[in-house]
Amino acid sequence: MRFAVSGARKVTFLLLLITTCNVLQHPVSFASPGLSVILGPGPTPASPISETRIGDDGQISQSQPSVSIGARPVAKKCVFILATGRSGSTSLMDALNQIPNYLIRGEHWRAVGNMYDAYRRFQEALKASEHHSLQLDGGQLDSFDAVKHVYGTKLASYNDLGLFNEFGSDRVLQATQAYYATLYGYYGEDVVSGFKEIRYVCGKFLPAARECGIQFQSFMAFLRSLCTDVKLIFNSRMAASTVPNLKLYLMDKSGRRNPLDFAYDLGATHTLYDYYVRKNPRHAFRVYMEDMFNPQKNTTLALNLLTFLGEDPATPIAFNRMPSWSTGKS
Ligand SMILES: *[C@@H]1O[C@H](CO)[C@@H](O)[C@H](O)[C@H]1NC(C)=O
Repeated sequence: MRFAVSGARKVTFLLLLITTCNVLQHPVSFASPGLSVILGPGPTPASPISETRIGDDGQISQSQPSVSIGARPVAKKCVFILATGRSGSTSLMDALNQIPNYLIRGEHWRAVGNMYDAYRRFQEALKASEHHSLQLDGGQLDSFDAVKHVYGTKLASYNDLGLFNEFGSDRVLQATQAYYATLYGYYGEDVVSGFKEIRYVCGKFLPAARECGIQFQSFMAFLRSLCTDVKLIFNSRMAASTVPNLKLYLMDKSGRRNPLDFAYDLGATHTLYDYYVRKNPRHAFRVYMEDMFNPQKNTTLALNLLTFLGEDPATPIAFNRMPSWSTGKS
């Protein structure tokens, strides 16, 4: 209720009221370390051609330039494939894209990791401003005018406002979800969106060695907060030792990485994948490359994967549709 927009105040207020009621009726709660929020029902599905209207509740005319606060753009169902690299992740992505309503995108050079960095920086900045007693009382934020009033009369005359902001951490999360939904989830609720990425491993996006575990947990919590229903798939080769992963080791262009460090970080990543899946079987699933291409195991794997995703286990998918494996390129 804090952000009733002054222009169409009555309409907005009504919409906020409706949305709030909906939220109260069907709360979906997320409680992960560092991230805790109650989300309402998913966003109004938008067609691809009306992507600029994502988050619009459909009742405010298009000429309304302000963001509608009542409708929160949150993608509904998302699948993220996190892989160690050279482990069949593209074929896994392709198998999922054989499910008619799935659209899993490929590598984005850890761009979602940059969203995570931004998210964390915002949270740290907000904490710092709280520390400086700059947090505004939520009740005072009913309108832009009210904020400006508080800013001018209560804050600016008494404080150094280098850390000033009036929004809270819930708003940062909503903005992050809107970022994801606008970029990946804009075909609407019926389409399952996602990406696959090989950079979210220890020693790359995640820190090396001991620090990795903590950051891993925190990053998973972040990924899980991006959509209403998030499924995580962890893909690697069976063994974490260097010999079967030689291609991966050689691929690292930064080169000259100590092979012991490489082995340590790859092993740590495998352990984190295994541990996470064991602890979170409902939203996390482990895929070993060898099983994908083993004719004795691939049917069961496909069935288990589809069941995990909540899809019809009879959906025809194959891990070997792409040509790269037969030509040995991957
Ligand atoms: C399993 O392997 C066989 C033989 O290569 C192949 O015909 C079949 O399509 C594969 N199934 C899956 C789910 O990949």
